[in-house]
Amino acid sequence: MEFLDFRSDTVTKPTPGMRKAMAQAKVGDDVYDEDPTVNRLQRIAAELLEKEACLFVPSGTMGNIVAILTHGGRGDEMILGDLAHTFLYEGGAAAGLAGMHPHILTNRPDGTIPISAIERAIRPNNVHVPHTRLICLENTHNRCGGSVLSPDYCDAVGELAHSHGISVHLDGARLLNAAIYLSVSPSILTRSADSVMLCLSKGLGAPVGSILCGTQKFIAKAKRMRKMVGGGMRQAGIIAAAGIYAFEHNIERLEIDHANASRLVAGIKTIPGLACKADDRNEPSVQTNMVYFTVNGSAVGDPTLNAAELSKRLRAQGVLANPLGSDPNQMRMVTHLDVSQEDIDTALSVLARVVRAAA
Ligand SMILES: Cc1ncc(COP(=O)(O)O)c(C=O)c1O
Repeated sequence: MEFLDFRSDTVTKPTPGMRKAMAQAKVGDDVYDEDPTVNRLQRIAAELLEKEACLFVPSGTMGNIVAILTHGGRGDEMILGDLAHTFLYEGGAAAGLAGMHPHILTNRPDGTIPISAIERAIRPNNVHVPHTRLICLENTHNRCGGSVLSPDYCDAVGELAHSHGISVHLDGARLLNAAIYLSVSPSILTRSADSVMLCLSKGLGAPVGSILCGTQKFIAKAKRMRKMVGGGMRQAGIIAAAGIYAFEHNIERLEIDHANASRLVAGIKTIPGLACKADDRNEPSVQTNMVYFTVNGSAVGDPTLNAAELSKRLRAQGVLANPLGSDPNQMRMVTHLDVSQEDIDTALSVLARVVRAAA
């Protein structure tokens, strides 16, 4: 069976054009800085985010942990949201590998953490308490419905952090979705961050890879950290070529994914038993490419219909979507390069059918 896959934007397959670029890539040994394609990708990314330097890494998780290892050390503290990917889904790497103490603050549904809460969480200079070294933001915010942090908010966090000598790391796995949503240059969203990680293998459609950007000094140290965690790659130009292709072809089209997500929301709102939950205003307004919704089986006469059961029924009908989050009734569907408007309509009719079948 051919599946329509809405589990994540990580599931995209490289297109023929991207594969051709990969096949033709000039390569060298990147640990010796001799891969011309990796070097070109790093230049393009640094320019796009207006940072001095860039490092190609195999994954977003590695980009984040390399940044954390570079910014701080054992017993230092990092402030981040309780719904941050770095806190929830990276295997405890910040504590396990960097020895950093995560100081968790509640994320608001729009992905922000109140500035006043961050300010209160910054430690005084006292031997009893850890040094606050780092504040991590996430834009777009995955668990907060793909929500977009505004330039003003990012700047306010940067100003606060820097006034205390603290660095800011931005998990920008989907930063370009945020930039497209706001119609701004991505550098507007990165100007207050000391380091930025951006994934090539999500909405941009590359099979592998992320980039980490910062100052020359930061990237020089990050390169040692990348080697330490086993991320020094050799003829990596083959995969870096996919990243260059993605930057050249797949940024503007993210708008299509956003429009498809809105279409999905509009359709879900018409299906009894389903309700979208995208933000704290209880309005199912989706900003980028993530659609979170809940299923209420009781409302359609089938109390056994929760997110896990809905996911099972959808799979049997050729649609892949995962339960996600601590609410057993919550599902997530993500739009991407490999789903068309027609696929959205197909998925909506399958959703309506499997929920109606419950009644
Ligand atoms: C916000 C965010 N940050 C980081 C990552 C980690 O990326 P990777 O899966 O490439 O390790 C993800 C992955 O989904 C993510 O959503």
